[in-house]
Amino acid sequence: MRSAEALVDRDFAIGETDRRLFGAFVEHLGRCIYGGIYEPGHPSADGRGFRGDVLALVRELAPTIMRYPGGNFVSGYNWEDGVGPVEQRPRRLDLAWMSTETNAFGTNEFIDWCRAARIEPMLAVNLGTRGPDAARNLVEYCNHPGGTALSDLRRAHGWEKPHDVKFWCLGNEMDGPWQMERKTAQEYGRVATEAAKMMRWVDPTLELAACGSSGRNMPTFGAWEDSVLEHCFDHVDYISLHTYLNNYAGDTEAFLASPDMMDWFIEEVVAIADAVAARRRSRKRIMLSFDEWNVWYRTRRRSADRVKPGWPAAPQILEEVYTMEDALAFGGACIALLNHADRVKAACLAQLVNAIAPIMTETGGPAWRQTIFFPFADMSNLGRGRVLQARVDSPHYAASYYDPRGADENRFALPEVPHLKLSVVHDAAGGHLTVFALNRHLTEALPLRLVLRGFRELSLAAARQLRHEDLKAANTREQPERVAPARLDGIETAADQLRLQLAPASWNVIRLRVEP
Ligand code: AHR
Repeated sequence: MRSAEALVDRDFAIGETDRRLFGAFVEHLGRCIYGGIYEPGHPSADGRGFRGDVLALVRELAPTIMRYPGGNFVSGYNWEDGVGPVEQRPRRLDLAWMSTETNAFGTNEFIDWCRAARIEPMLAVNLGTRGPDAARNLVEYCNHPGGTALSDLRRAHGWEKPHDVKFWCLGNEMDGPWQMERKTAQEYGRVATEAAKMMRWVDPTLELAACGSSGRNMPTFGAWEDSVLEHCFDHVDYISLHTYLNNYAGDTEAFLASPDMMDWFIEEVVAIADAVAARRRSRKRIMLSFDEWNVWYRTRRRSADRVKPGWPAAPQILEEVYTMEDALAFGGACIALLNHADRVKAACLAQLVNAIAPIMTETGGPAWRQTIFFPFADMSNLGRGRVLQARVDSPHYAASYYDPRGADENRFALPEVPHLKLSVVHDAAGGHLTVFALNRHLTEALPLRLVLRGFRELSLAAARQLRHEDLKAANTREQPERVAPARLDGIETAADQLRLQLAPASWNVIRLRVEP
């Protein structure tokens, strides 16, 4: 195959990665919380029921911010059910996932878990069945120091100090018919504006994200963002995006091309947000919160994988087992996020444990890493810094995707998909340059020459690669390390250049030492 070349210049940056770009998500969904992060009685659990083995893997994964409590769940959630003495909390039907919510875990436990994991909390408010009043009350309960009924209630519940939660989502996927009390863009825009106003009156330091479309395939995409932002432009800081990549078509080449749609989606939302700003002659820039993204399809449409009969508590649903090829598409998504660091200021991998997650657990048993764990850990641990603009000259291929089951999600015809998808991040303070490179060719190695203009005396600090002969290989309880990263050899550095071979269908991370 022809080789690829890429050129970056030390002075030409896209933007600085925000800490919050490396977030994840825990929802009251299946075994994400119950039997995931929280399992009293598990051999590794502490006195609060937090699983120690999961916490150890979370530290390795290194998410920086955690969204909670949903997701679809939040649109029917009464936050009051989840605070106060556990034995007095009500059991309720959860209409999002057709299960029973015991409320044994709620907002205060979530905050404690975040502190234990050293992760910033991100809270979503219910703008489905509830509204601005419940939202401002939750802010008062969480963030007001004391001396009012709700802040004193928190103190009486045992949390003396305010939780000081800064980042709040104004509802979830309010454009989706599957949402409890779905809204039109006008209805949602009004409600979100009023909620934002009142929440900020309680705590002016909040940062607020309005719901964008729940996917680029939504029929209202574009018009939704435009109307919602027309309403709440002055009251919010972020607009959200959600994407789940899929391989319903069983076409791996097209699947690996599909993360490029995240690039387009981001650029389209930026254009719409900036058009709203332009109409107002405003220099304010609405930032993007990509607060749900992942690969998800095997357990998405079959109702047996989504819902278990009999309203069980913490059912085994959405337990997607990720393969090697999923990790490659997922790595492409990581690169799409990094390469838009100027506007995507927060992002959440959906989700963290068991339900479409990088970490799996057995109830009462061990925890292990899924294939997608590795690209995320690479991005989060090594992707902090200035993302540099890269001029990529790569051989390409044609891919087209259609959903054989008729829905138009991810539909595209792409005549020129570069085999190489690449991001380069410069951590000036730490004296490192990190290259994230995906070779999407399924059978051929891709020789790469990377010119790093403005850097001298490059030397290799570390390099690793994720690949497996069998693209359908996965990690399971029985074989938890079947797919795992290995050292990447054969890298040459000379002056300001780097040369290497990217193995077929591989995710590669190369860390270079550069002068600080
Ligand atoms: O992450 C799973 C679900 O996907 C979330 O609850 C919802 O917001 C989205 O549709």
